[in-house]
Amino acid sequence: MSERGPAEPSRATAVIDLAAVERNCARLAAELEGAELCAVVKADGYGHGAVECARAALGGGASWLAVATAAEASELRAALPEARLFVMGALTPAELDEALAADADVAVWRSGFCDLIGARARSLGVRPRAHVKWDTGMGRLGERDSVALLALLEAVAADEEVELSGLWTHFATADEPGSSFFARQLESFVHLADRMRSRYPGLIAHAANSAATLIDPASHLDMVRCGVAIYGLDPFQEDPARRRLEPAMALRSYVADVKRFEAGWSAGYGRRWRATEPTWVGVLPIGYGDGVRRALTNNAEVLVRGRRHAVVGTISMDNLTIDLGPETDVVAGDQAVLIGAQGGEEILCEEVARRLATINYEVTCGISARVPRRYRRSPEDAR
Ligand SMILES: Cc1ncc(COP(=O)(O)O)c(C=O)c1O
Repeated sequence: MSERGPAEPSRATAVIDLAAVERNCARLAAELEGAELCAVVKADGYGHGAVECARAALGGGASWLAVATAAEASELRAALPEARLFVMGALTPAELDEALAADADVAVWRSGFCDLIGARARSLGVRPRAHVKWDTGMGRLGERDSVALLALLEAVAADEEVELSGLWTHFATADEPGSSFFARQLESFVHLADRMRSRYPGLIAHAANSAATLIDPASHLDMVRCGVAIYGLDPFQEDPARRRLEPAMALRSYVADVKRFEAGWSAGYGRRWRATEPTWVGVLPIGYGDGVRRALTNNAEVLVRGRRHAVVGTISMDNLTIDLGPETDVVAGDQAVLIGAQGGEEILCEEVARRLATINYEVTCGISARVPRRYRRSPEDAR
């Protein structure tokens, strides 16, 4: 559909620019100097589509893919038989079997799980690849105590049925520039990783998320695990262009109706907006059932004909309304952009996140399954 007038209106579509994902990966990979790029495509590629983005990431120079769950690993394995997969999350025994069946590397975060992997290896006749996790301060999975961590590394290394593949950690404050906590986590990890890499040759040490990758090359080690940046979202919640990242997702709908409102008329549940003067209101068939959060009520803008229009009234499950002003050239069928560019204007995920007092990650992950993802590789496919 065109920006002006109807061609074939689409109720709600997330348009994903796979060339942007590829370029974002190439931009990250170019600065790694020997470290590998692991593209984090959990949660359906942060809402962008896991398999499609994984392919684009591999095309852009990623050599690993990381997910959180066994089911996510199975989905990737079905589409990408050769890819190196790493499941970062906790696994129940059944989930461990599924992850191993998908030939994914798995995380080991405590000795009980180490025993379980050994047992499953013997029973399934496979040789799992394990990445031992050190909790250097995130306070989630991983051994916190360095003595217990060394014992865990030794236990994994001693089990002939299991391959000790990696040592890893995760940063709590890499997205807070100048954080001394980040510096402390990094220093402890690098110190131990250096010792362990000489004790266990071939061990892959990895720690950096997107923020760390972008701000501190010392965090790159053998591999970086980048999620948000590969989708062109800024880990610091600033304009992604500042770090040469290109947003990959656009969220579009269309104007289903344009209605004249008299002063005092209201739009939406609870009458939370009333026209103060005669105006035109556009009705868009998209709402919180699609992931356009209700907290954006009277608190967002939408692009139509390359101009910003305020969201007015309560966002419903399937509809929202925008104020088009006392005079308008907007007609039913015009494309509406909730995230992305139109004309010379752009609404970034970071802007939507700020309005919601959250982070861009949650905005794209929240676009619901009801919204079809349409993939494109060039601006010409974007219509
Ligand atoms: C363990 C782990 N590593 C890496 C990442 C990627 O982080 P980011 O999306 O900030 O690059 C995540 C994401 O939450 C994670 O949980």
